[in-house]
Amino acid sequence: MKRVYIENLGEHVGEVAELRGWLYHKRSSGKVRFLVMRDGTGLLQGVMVKGGVSDEVFERFDALTQESSFSMTGKVKKDDRAPGGFELEVSDVNVIAIAEEYPITPKEHGIEFLADRRHLWLRSSRQHAIMRVRHRIIKAIRDFFDGRGFTLMDSPILTPAACEGTSTLFETDYFDLGKAYLTQSGQLYAEAGAMALGKVYCFGPTFRAEKSKTRRHLTEFWMVEPEVAFNDLNDDMELAEDFLEYVVQNVLKDCEKELKVLERNTALLQNVKAPLPRISYDEAVEMLRKKGINFEWGNDLGGTDETVISEQFDRPVMVHRYPAQVKAFYMKRDPQNANLALAVDVLAPEGYGEIIGGSQREDDLQALLDRIKEHNLPQEAFEWYLDLRRFGSVPHAGFGLGVERTVSWICGLEHIRETIPFPRMIYRNTP
Ligand code: 4AD
Ligand code: MG
Repeated sequence: MKRVYIENLGEHVGEVAELRGWLYHKRSSGKVRFLVMRDGTGLLQGVMVKGGVSDEVFERFDALTQESSFSMTGKVKKDDRAPGGFELEVSDVNVIAIAEEYPITPKEHGIEFLADRRHLWLRSSRQHAIMRVRHRIIKAIRDFFDGRGFTLMDSPILTPAACEGTSTLFETDYFDLGKAYLTQSGQLYAEAGAMALGKVYCFGPTFRAEKSKTRRHLTEFWMVEPEVAFNDLNDDMELAEDFLEYVVQNVLKDCEKELKVLERNTALLQNVKAPLPRISYDEAVEMLRKKGINFEWGNDLGGTDETVISEQFDRPVMVHRYPAQVKAFYMKRDPQNANLALAVDVLAPEGYGEIIGGSQREDDLQALLDRIKEHNLPQEAFEWYLDLRRFGSVPHAGFGLGVERTVSWICGLEHIRETIPFPRMIYRNTP
């Protein structure tokens, strides 16, 4: 007997096949019994008629509860009315395990109820669709960089020092060596990689002890960070817009089904094509003031400010040259204006806010030493990083894209908690 997956049924029309999965729902009508199975690749309706199978098999229908695991065998038929486009003329059913009363039913549940049962919630069609889109996004990220000759070079998770500011570090004891910290970004190590291999990216989990309880913040999230030797800020922005176009267009091409399940209006996503609009921080401030927001030059853009700015555009917008005082120590100053950092943030439309943060890096040894002092960072911990400026320093630039913010935006979700299998947030570290 051929065991097949629901997504491959098209290759087996007219054949007898065995399918294994879980009971999504069932119903009966007169002498006919309908069993809808999900197997992780799709939904399939099996149809069983009294008299068409042995009574023993027919009665197994009664025992099956929602989420019971079972197998069913039968002839594969094309049926355009059926969910998924196929139907199974069931000749045999075998129970694998009868499920206890399943806590998640088609009725509306509160978000905390579902979040407490995340391990089960992942089985629902909406979560299934989100996980598939997440997977496609991650594949597109890798394909993009691999296709352009980048080398994946991952950074350590346990690190001796801060990278994105000391206020959001998770700390842990590290044997006799004192404290270690969970990384906030792999960037500093990616810079070493770029000096060795030219074009690299790291792609891993990052951690921020963010006190923010917003729909955009996780304490553990995945970030991809390309870093390129000899790139300047302009090259960095060109890489970012080509990259976003590639990711979004591939998801649109391959995840039509999933985006439909999520009822995502994809009109604005179609617009994500290079070049993307670019505005300076100064222009962004002007824009906010015109909208009646009393924004003081020199402050960082807050979530609401980002939303107001991005609402002026029908595609992501790149905001560049921020005040150096609100940005990280490693960013290069603008040679035209020392108060500005050669930074870029990409803001997604529809209120999704910053999805990419990047910059050209400070490549001058003395300037970097000064920054480390100004930021009160321990110089010893950065000696290896300073070496990159001592031994053949070159201009270089990179950025970081947060996977979960990107999933949230592309799927059109209300909250980032649904974008990752098991979210970690200020008030949640279970299940
Ligand atoms: O802007 P950030 O802090 O930049 C960096 O970490 C740089 N070292 C990246 C680089 O240049 N290599 O973070 C980058 C992105 C943000 O734009 C956002 O998408 C995501 O990471 N991010 C978060 N996502 C979820 N929850 C949080 N708490 C996040 N903080 C940042
Ligand atoms: Mg940022």
